[in-house]
Amino acid sequence: MDYSKIRCEDIESCTLREAIVEYGNDIKPLWQECVYSRPYKLESRRYIGCKAKLTDWIFDILQKQTHNVHSFCDIFAGTGSVSNKAIHLYNNVIMNDFLYSNNIMYKAFFGIGTWDKNKLYNILDAFNGINPDDISDNYFSINYGGKYFDENSAKLIGHIRNVIEDIKPTLTEKEYCILLASLIYSIDKIANTLGHFEAYIKKEIKPKKFIMRLIDAQCVSGVKIYQEDANTLARNIHTDVLYMDPPYNSRQYSRFYHVYEVLVKWDKPQLSGTARKPKPEHMSDYCRVKALDTFVDLIAHADCKYIVVSYNNTYKSKSSSSQNKIRLEQIKEVLDKCGNTLIFTHSYNPFNAGKTEFDDHKEFLFITEVDNEKRNSSFSSILCGRQIQVGK
Ligand SMILES: C[S@@+](CC[C@H](N)C(=O)[O-])C[C@H]1O[C@@H](n2cnc3c(N)ncnc32)[C@H](O)[C@@H]1O
Repeated sequence: MDYSKIRCEDIESCTLREAIVEYGNDIKPLWQECVYSRPYKLESRRYIGCKAKLTDWIFDILQKQTHNVHSFCDIFAGTGSVSNKAIHLYNNVIMNDFLYSNNIMYKAFFGIGTWDKNKLYNILDAFNGINPDDISDNYFSINYGGKYFDENSAKLIGHIRNVIEDIKPTLTEKEYCILLASLIYSIDKIANTLGHFEAYIKKEIKPKKFIMRLIDAQCVSGVKIYQEDANTLARNIHTDVLYMDPPYNSRQYSRFYHVYEVLVKWDKPQLSGTARKPKPEHMSDYCRVKALDTFVDLIAHADCKYIVVSYNNTYKSKSSSSQNKIRLEQIKEVLDKCGNTLIFTHSYNPFNAGKTEFDDHKEFLFITEVDNEKRNSSFSSILCGRQIQVGK
C-alpha cells in the first residue's frame, strides 16, 4: 500500500485498532504521528467557571496595578487556567483545589517529576488497540454505560482505569498522573453531557470514538500544589498575590464533576440516583448560606500584599441554584476593610452548561492592596491573636 497518499484526516479519527484493520500494521507510525502530535492543552477541557478566555484581561490589569510581585497563589484553581499564565510571570505559584481530579491535573501538567514519553506512547498504543468486544463489563461500564458514555466507550474507560492501577508500580508518580489526566481529557470529548455530570443527555447515545491522547505535560520548578480547603490553606501560606475565584452559587463542583472524582480515587464507591453519584464529599461552604462568612474568614487570614477576586453577576439568574451566594457590594465591603480596592469589569459570555440566562453578564475583578494594620484591626475579633505582622 502507498502510505504516502494517506493524510492525517483519513486516520486520526480511527482508533489504532481500526487503522490497522483498514490499512495494515505498517500504518502504525503514521497513525501515531497524526494522533500523538496533538497533545491536549490545559484549557481544552470543559469546566464551569473556567477563566481560560479571561486570563489575558486579568493579567493585563494585574501587571499594571500590582508592584514588586514574585509569588502568586491560585487558591480555587479549578482547571488551572489562571496558574498556567501565572507560571510565566512569577517565580513561585501555589495551586490549590480540594477536588482529587483537579489535584491530579496540576501534578500532571506542572508537577516536578520524570516521565518517559515513549513508554507512555507504548501504553497508549495498547489502550488504543483494544477491541471493546474482547473485554468484559466493569465498575465504570456497569454504572455509567448507556448514560454518560456509550456502552463500548464506558467498558474501555473502566478497563483502562483498572490497567493504570495495575501498572502503577512500574510508573513514576508523574507518569501515573499524566495517564490519569490524559484519560480525563480524552473522555471529556466524548461524554454524553452538557459539560458536567449533574445529568446526562437523555437521548439515544451516538457511539463516539474513544481515542486516548496525552496531555501537554510540563515540569515547572516554582509550582507548589495543594489539595486543601482554601480557608485552611490561607492560614498557612504567604504569597504576594492571593487570587480567589470561588464558586459563585449553590452548584457544588464535587457534585458536577463526581465522575472524574470517582475515576481518580478509584475506590469504587456505591453510587446512587439517576446521576449515579457517590456520597457527598468536598462540599464547599462558598455554595452555602454561610458563603459570606466563609469569604470574610479567608480574607481575614490572607497573608499577602494584594488580594484579587474574580466574581460575576449571576445573582439575577432565573434559576435559584445559579444565583450568586455573595453580592458584589458585599465583596467590596469586606475587601475595603483590608485596604484600597479597585474594581474592573468585562462583558463576557461564560461557559454555561445549564438553562440559566445570564442577561448582561459581567465579569468582575477586585484588586485590593492590603494594609495589614487596617486589616488586623478590622478583623481583630476573627483573628484572635493571629494578627499578621505589619511590615512583613
Ligand atoms: C470558579 S471555579 C475556579 C475556576 C478556575 N479559576 C479555572 O479557571 O478553571 C472554583 C473552584 O473552587 C474549588 N473549591 C470550591 N470550594 C473550595 C474550597 N473550600 N477549598 C478549595 N477549593 C474549593 C472548586 O472545586 C472549583 O474548582
